[in-house]
Amino acid sequence: MGSDFCAPTVTKALEGKVALITGGASGIGESVARLFVHHGAKVLIADLQDKLGQSLAAELGPQETVSFVHCNVTVDSDVANAVDTAVSRYGQLDVMYNNAGIGGNLDTTILNSDNADFKKVLEINLFGSFLGAKHAARVMIPARKGCILFTGSVASSISGDLSYAYKASKHAMLGLANNLTVEMGKYGIRVNTVSPYGVATPMVTRGMQMDKAAAEEFMSAAGNLRGAVLEPEDVARAALYLASDAAKYVSGLNLIVDGGHNHNHPLFGSSAQA
Ligand SMILES: NC(=O)c1ccc[n+]([C@@H]2O[C@H](COP(=O)([O-])OP(=O)(O)OC[C@H]3O[C@@H](n4cnc5c(N)ncnc54)[C@H](O)[C@@H]3O)[C@@H](O)[C@H]2O)c1
Repeated sequence: MGSDFCAPTVTKALEGKVALITGGASGIGESVARLFVHHGAKVLIADLQDKLGQSLAAELGPQETVSFVHCNVTVDSDVANAVDTAVSRYGQLDVMYNNAGIGGNLDTTILNSDNADFKKVLEINLFGSFLGAKHAARVMIPARKGCILFTGSVASSISGDLSYAYKASKHAMLGLANNLTVEMGKYGIRVNTVSPYGVATPMVTRGMQMDKAAAEEFMSAAGNLRGAVLEPEDVARAALYLASDAAKYVSGLNLIVDGGHNHNHPLFGSSAQA
């Protein structure tokens, strides 16, 4: 047993680690950036939204601790630059969080699915994550350590009533993560996915054309776990665990943060009120 096994709770779970978070300017990524900085990590926020990302970084701490880099995850040179910036600015890369994503069109019928939208969603959610994994591996393999995270979704595992593009992108992301888990294991690099149920982030409120409170009410009513609202901070806490040494032997996990929603089959009365 390690000597610190029963030591008092570690308050800074990511002390000494460097994390790069794509899509880190808003929503879940923003919460992850806040929590990771709070837990002692040096954080590079990578996003398309320059002003938002820069102001978040400035709010969270000095440039020596947290900063922003412009990055379109679908552009190889942007992702390469983000990874290289993390290493040159902070000395290493311990955690690569492939979180950037879009919802795309909400239409759930195959006949009305838009071809261009399908390609765009796959390009950002899947290809962007592939590039993130590839460039992170480039610097983590020689270091023989690291942690690669993805934001999946309940759509990674459940089907129906979802857009084809979003479902395909998040399902395929799990395949990407599973394959990566096996190869990266040889180098001591862990690979995990956090898969949330609906969270009222800008992606969702925009897509559903509802304000935050209405979106939360809608999703809570449709969810499995009564009396709780899923917030970005809850997803960030799951990511914190996976990024930290508390999860040192956890790899290949899809940590579903959905209050049990994926087990609630409609045939047996989903969303039944107690
Ligand atoms: N909100 C939910 O209900 C929910 C549920 C499950 C999974 N997710 C996933 O969580 C992740 C974060 O989404 P969110 O809900 O926080 O939405 P969000 O819109 O608040 O944040 C997404 C961020 O990604 C950035 N982004 C989009 N395209 C990009 C690109 N090409 N390059 C770089 N950055 C880009 C956006 O600028 C934005 O800052 C996504 O992968 C999403 O699919 C969200």
